[in-house]
Amino acid sequence: MTRLPMMAGNWKMNNTISEAVVLTQELSYQLEHDWDDVEVVLCPPYTDLKPVLTVLDYDKSAVKVAAQNVFWEEKGAFTGEISVRMIKEIGCAYSIVGHSERREIFEESDESVNKKVKALVAAGLGAIVCVGESLFVRDEGIALMFVEGQLRAAFAGLEPNDAAKCVVAYEPIWAIGTGRTATPEQAEEVCAMLRETIAHMFGGACAEEMRILYGGSMNTGNVDMLLAMPNIDGGLVGGASLEAASFSQLVKACRK
Ligand code: 13P
Repeated sequence: MTRLPMMAGNWKMNNTISEAVVLTQELSYQLEHDWDDVEVVLCPPYTDLKPVLTVLDYDKSAVKVAAQNVFWEEKGAFTGEISVRMIKEIGCAYSIVGHSERREIFEESDESVNKKVKALVAAGLGAIVCVGESLFVRDEGIALMFVEGQLRAAFAGLEPNDAAKCVVAYEPIWAIGTGRTATPEQAEEVCAMLRETIAHMFGGACAEEMRILYGGSMNTGNVDMLLAMPNIDGGLVGGASLEAASFSQLVKACRK
């Protein structure tokens, strides 16, 4: 089975509405219209979701939109949080869950990641589940074990058909925003382990179907080598997604 590659741009806390509209228009123009061989996803901040979707709708673009985070409760007294129903109604197809910046800065736990994944799939949305080790963990020689633990915790208690709605992103923390990319072999070693773990948890068919992305200083110079690896099905990109020229190059790299 051949998996549809995915290129997702995580804008993080960048772009006001006016900046987001310009970037989406530029991107939509550069990506052309006639393609169905890669799934392109933009992950803007909450305030930009609607404006970005409006531009994409106007352009009849196939580009999808994801939130960067979501809360698992349906509604109520949770000041500052956004529910799955809210991002679904606005038109999001996915939400990123468990990005290392949320785990580190906002102390998100494996348990809260699992609750968010469950809330998303229950509503028919997909989760882009981030896993990845720190430099300390890698230097200790326990990166594979650590990342496997994160994956198992994130997907605990899911049914195979719900797990299949999700995407996994391997993002080694030491490679995020540092310009220091994992080598294709380092990334492939972890991504192969992730697919094997999915096969153990949910069966071979689910593992074959699931997209596994690499994230961490992916750019136009290293994308081809990373995508050449058999278990890397695309990218979750930060810095290089903030310019239409570089992000559209990364999308095109998926189409070869
Ligand atoms: P950079 O591409 O800027 O390293 O960020 C990666 C990332 O964290 C995407 O979620």
